[in-house]
Amino acid sequence: MSGRAPPSTVRIPEPISGRLLSLKNTFNSKYGCKPSFYARAPGRVNLIGEHIDYCGYAVLPMAIEQDILAAVKPIDSKEVELSNTNPSYLDFSTSVTNIQIDKTKPLWHNYFLCGLKGIQDHFNLPSPTGMKCVLDGTIPPSSGLSSSSALVCCAGLVTLTANGRTLSKVELAETCARCEHYIGTEGGGMDQSISFLAEEGKAKLIEFGPLRATDVTLPAGAVFVIANSCVEMNKAATAHFNIRVVECRLATKILAKSKGLAWRELMKLGDLQINLGVSLEGILDIVEEVLHPEPYTCEEICEFLGISLEELRTTILSQNTQDVATFRLYQRSKHVYGEAARVLAFKAVCDDPPANAVQLLGDLMNQSHASCRDMYECSCPELDQLVDICLKSGAVGSRLTGAGWGGCSVSMVPAEKLNHFLSSVQEGFYKTDSKKLALMEKSLFATKPGSGAMILMEEENL
Ligand code: GLA
Repeated sequence: MSGRAPPSTVRIPEPISGRLLSLKNTFNSKYGCKPSFYARAPGRVNLIGEHIDYCGYAVLPMAIEQDILAAVKPIDSKEVELSNTNPSYLDFSTSVTNIQIDKTKPLWHNYFLCGLKGIQDHFNLPSPTGMKCVLDGTIPPSSGLSSSSALVCCAGLVTLTANGRTLSKVELAETCARCEHYIGTEGGGMDQSISFLAEEGKAKLIEFGPLRATDVTLPAGAVFVIANSCVEMNKAATAHFNIRVVECRLATKILAKSKGLAWRELMKLGDLQINLGVSLEGILDIVEEVLHPEPYTCEEICEFLGISLEELRTTILSQNTQDVATFRLYQRSKHVYGEAARVLAFKAVCDDPPANAVQLLGDLMNQSHASCRDMYECSCPELDQLVDICLKSGAVGSRLTGAGWGGCSVSMVPAEKLNHFLSSVQEGFYKTDSKKLALMEKSLFATKPGSGAMILMEEENL
């Protein structure tokens, strides 16, 4: 799957070879035939740069080993038949010529349908192929490790391959980022980009407009550890995520109008900075000068922009934010511009590491968490407690990762302290509660940058 070439056969990564065989058997007993190919798309952990991709700013994630794996057989009929190895995800089938995505119910198959429809729409496929498909996922759901986007990406790759089409990794990432919006959440492109553009051993700086991934070498001597707070947060099921997207959009418009710019065309805080031609420090001064810390009401926003409530609702708010009464524009903009600067500082330390690189990166991660907690208000008490325990257990930096409001933290731990760190977090967080204890094994683990999405062809590999 390099460049525009058709998806290539690749060496099967060790950790998934056993799963592939068992998936093949499941497929066979379910459908009475062999799959013709497999697709895999990984989840990710974001090291720094939270809630800024949809504002146009660069982020710094890496792919993780946990993934979504699919076994697929294209068929002559127009049915798509989906099954999941997890029995709590029920079978689903529909016609590929009439895909309906229910935004009110973020059920697992709807994410698959996003990828399916995204590729169909991209090519305007006149006669898309039907298929049988069994999926197997190892990314803990609703945990901030991008299980939903990995499913969308896997479905996009499956649909592309089943229909004999090709796209570059960048085009695939952009298509899958767009089509995830069919489920109703207005995410940026981080998750889909790293799922396709990841390479083993490398974290990536992902930049947008145009989409670009640059290698980031993480400092030797430090290990990144993921810890799940065991609080699930499904961003399609609540309005939290889209409220933040809308707050950033509103802040863009208020700041743009106050500076005499054509505010109607501007949607992102990043585009505002480009239009103003100022540095991140400069725009933080403008935020201080223009915005007030008290929440903005819809009336105040409408009056300032000179628009009706109707226009606000139809042109700026999203479907599930229509009834939100107040918006915190000062705090959200402070977070976005500050976090954008922290990503660049993190990358600069990795590129040319001074003797105290690990400490500097840890400090940036800690500042990021504080800003997510206090300015963006996307943490929760359990995550704050977990981050606190991670720091007390020897991490030099610890922060929530992904959308937040639950899910995982990522901590940077000096390699020689790893064992002590793991046992101390087990004692301090997981062993205090039977529910968390039961989840501990899959909730606390060291991780390294994993490889990106791939296609594996049946005949040659199994
Ligand atoms: C979700 C979205 C991403 C990004 C993160 C927060 O994972 O899908 O695009 O906005 O939240 O950084």
